[in-house]
Amino acid sequence: MIIFRNTVLLKKHLSGLRKQGKIGFVPTMGALHDGHIQLIRTSLDENAHTLCSIFVNPTQFNDPQDFQKYPITIEADIQKLESAGCNILFLPTVEEIYPGGTGDGKHYELGHLEQVLEGSFRPGHFQGVCRVVDILLGITEPNELYLGQKDYQQCMVIKKMIELTGRQTSLRICDTVRERDGLAMSSRNMRLSPGQRTTATLIHKLLSEARRSLKPGDLRPFQEKALQELRNGGFKPDYFEFAHADSLQILQHWNGKDPLVAVVAAFLGDVRLIDNMILN
Ligand code: PAJ
Repeated sequence: MIIFRNTVLLKKHLSGLRKQGKIGFVPTMGALHDGHIQLIRTSLDENAHTLCSIFVNPTQFNDPQDFQKYPITIEADIQKLESAGCNILFLPTVEEIYPGGTGDGKHYELGHLEQVLEGSFRPGHFQGVCRVVDILLGITEPNELYLGQKDYQQCMVIKKMIELTGRQTSLRICDTVRERDGLAMSSRNMRLSPGQRTTATLIHKLLSEARRSLKPGDLRPFQEKALQELRNGGFKPDYFEFAHADSLQILQHWNGKDPLVAVVAAFLGDVRLIDNMILN
């Protein structure tokens, strides 16, 4: 695996490779786990060259504490990427990505998508995500971009950003990789205490129960029950909602036909966990 820290050198290398076949790109913030590695494997299957980036993007953290505490495990990350067979790693500094500083950047008209759910609890977060992914796509110009369904709203936001900017990259969304007990893999899981780690499985249990018990009609009784169970389990939930899987419109009533996704975000101590499940 070749590691690049410099944008100009990476661009030059990629322009040579592009003639030999498709380039797949997996952007990450590091602290890699099997969820990330699954994206790498899928890209390796579908492209001639696979490029991963590790960059903890300051502009997408609405909470400075969360940014400070974001786990950094670069040596282990490099090992995992090497053993997965990743071809190229891009490891830029903040100055390399934001040469003019991290202050005001381009604004993306995301509309409703950045007003609901994560958008309302993490103001500015999706503008920061779009900004960094737009810059990374500008540098790497991949044929395929690989994202995880774990961050459902992020996938929709990035899809919209690609439409708005007219970038020639197709989006591939890969299934959420879970621990054996159902907990969605996340770099933040390593900050959970052993007790919290056990409690954390409640999120997936509730999502699975929502899928099992789904029937047309009022969704609010289940929603209220889920929020109560999260509180009883020691979580501080931000939301447990049902939404239209294509538009992310929040639904309180299901007509039995619309594609439906259940989405949840909750704090366990100071660790914020998110997850989702497509229900039908
Ligand atoms: P990060 O949280 O490191 O995630 C990188 C990619 O891995 C994202 O597409 C995310 O959805 C995917 N991923 C994380 N956990 C997963 C799991 N359990 N199963 C499948 N895929 C999973 O998301 C980001 O970084 C950043 O916002 C980024 C897009 C890199 C922009 O800074």
